Amino acid sequence: MEHLRLGVNIDHVATVRNARGGDYPDPIRAAKLAEEAGADGITAHLREDRRHITDDDIERLVEALTVPLNFEMAATDEMQAIALRHRPHAVCLVPEKREERTTEGGLEVAQDENRLAHFIAPLRDAGCRVSIFIAADQRQIEAANRIGAQVIELHTGAYCDAHSEGRFDARDTELERLQDMSRFAHGLGLEVHAGHGLTYETVAPVAAFREVRELNIGHFLVGEAIFRGLEPSIKEMRRLMDEARSD
Ligand code: PXP
Repeated sequence: MEHLRLGVNIDHVATVRNARGGDYPDPIRAAKLAEEAGADGITAHLREDRRHITDDDIERLVEALTVPLNFEMAATDEMQAIALRHRPHAVCLVPEKREERTTEGGLEVAQDENRLAHFIAPLRDAGCRVSIFIAADQRQIEAANRIGAQVIELHTGAYCDAHSEGRFDARDTELERLQDMSRFAHGLGLEVHAGHGLTYETVAPVAAFREVRELNIGHFLVGEAIFRGLEPSIKEMRRLMDEARSD
């Protein structure tokens, strides 16, 4: 099976830094450690309200990284201009609401197809791989494909929430949906990624989907780093992914 890439999301290193308004802990230092621990890429979400990652962080990441940067952003003119200035390896479009604590759902592509097609064209022309964060929903996948996205990232939040709340039937239904939609998207020629809410307990079944090429994981790894350090936390995630992949 093809290698499953691990993208480490460092947003919440910036959350801790921003709690005190200084420059410690530095998310770029975390990104470099993640590289050393075997991350295949680094993901960072520049939110409209700059609640964690800042413009300066993005600039420094572009300078410092030797692995690809996956730049998560809302589909706004401001973010498009920033992406076009930095030309990251990948741009992942995510929905964004100020009042939400995290990215709660996937992007509504089907109802905004025309605008999004025009929005992503210059990003593709600039050489960025365009990824769209969506629910495991056939309508959204078809729309993402039509507008010219090269990658979709399936939202694993519903699956992970069902697991952590002990709703195991719902969890299994979500997992089946993720599997079916990974196959469907792969069949259309899209590269399939997945992420949101993944932990040591929930990663294996998703890592085992042969159509999935990349997982993006952040909050759990930054939390786990408090207890065992960032590098060991990432290495353990890598091990679980590899184990699931080889079964
Ligand atoms: N993928 C996307 C598109 C996201 O927006 C996020 C959260 O920022 C993640 C993956 C990582 O989610 P988590 O931090 O819950 O691991």
